[in-house]
Amino acid sequence: MTGSTASDRFTLTRRLPADHLADALRADVLKGLTGRPKTLPPKWFYDGRGSELFEEITRLPEYYPTRAEHEILQRRSGEIAAASGARTLAELGSGSSRKTRLLLDAFTALGTLTCYAPLDVSEDALAEAGRALTADYPGLTVTAAVTDYEVDLTLPGGAPRLVAFLGGTLGNLDAAGRRAFYAALRPQLRPGDALLLGVDLVKEPDVLVPAYDDARGVTAEFNKNVLRVLNRGLDARFDPDAFDHRALWNAAEERIEMRLRSRFAQTVPVSALDLTVEFERGEELRTEISVKFRREPLTAELAHGGFATRHWWTDEGGRFAVLMAEPAG
Ligand code: AVJ
Repeated sequence: MTGSTASDRFTLTRRLPADHLADALRADVLKGLTGRPKTLPPKWFYDGRGSELFEEITRLPEYYPTRAEHEILQRRSGEIAAASGARTLAELGSGSSRKTRLLLDAFTALGTLTCYAPLDVSEDALAEAGRALTADYPGLTVTAAVTDYEVDLTLPGGAPRLVAFLGGTLGNLDAAGRRAFYAALRPQLRPGDALLLGVDLVKEPDVLVPAYDDARGVTAEFNKNVLRVLNRGLDARFDPDAFDHRALWNAAEERIEMRLRSRFAQTVPVSALDLTVEFERGEELRTEISVKFRREPLTAELAHGGFATRHWWTDEGGRFAVLMAEPAG
């Protein structure tokens, strides 16, 4: 037999210590549920069921960001590939790697790319995507890493690299979190490398709010699913039906906030933490922020973080932007 098989070209490295996620969940829940207001980081939405619900969200008529970003990538992936000339495409929080195919197709046509390096906390998502991509792209090596990009941003593969952080996930970080992200990423990049960022843009609340509070209640299920993740992971006793889903536009911070509002006063045991959590009637637990951006302030904060924005593309409707930035300063 000649040539490499798909499995020769796929490697998956577990970078996280076996108990990292369990420890991180404990720490996040202890901090978030004993603080005021109560909060949880959105990364805990994405167990198997949560990832399925998110996929369903991306197909909802109200949830435009995935389609808008897809429109941009479909139209601009040739330009993106040519502008970067990358040998390695690294993707942070790659998930199912579905939109990645648009980029991989463009890079295949250009002929520069040899390595796709997805980074994700979900080993299952990486294994599934890696197998499919190595089969479909015969020239490509897939070097997957199970990691938490908040902890370890080391990038595999040779330079020049294009680092993609798509889907609007940057918006899950507040200003301090974004500064920390730029500070962690910037030293990983050399001249010739680039960052590809997908961000949702500020628009009317009557478009934004329904995107996070859909008529069919899929986003409500997605939001409440985090309580099941806590029940399973920390032996907690949340009743998802005892909370209402809320999505609101915080105009001062220009972000959507998802919350779970306690329908009545209740006490919830979290056995693995030896904790009982008290909720007042109507008290809200904030489960996600989704910041919406404007071009000038975003390019300014990127410049402060050591990134010079070279390209800015939007969909026809001007709802979403994909930008390409180079390391600078
Ligand atoms: C995947 C984080 C970009 O903020 O729009 C979708 C997640 N939350 N509906 C977003 C999400 C509620 C999504 N991100």
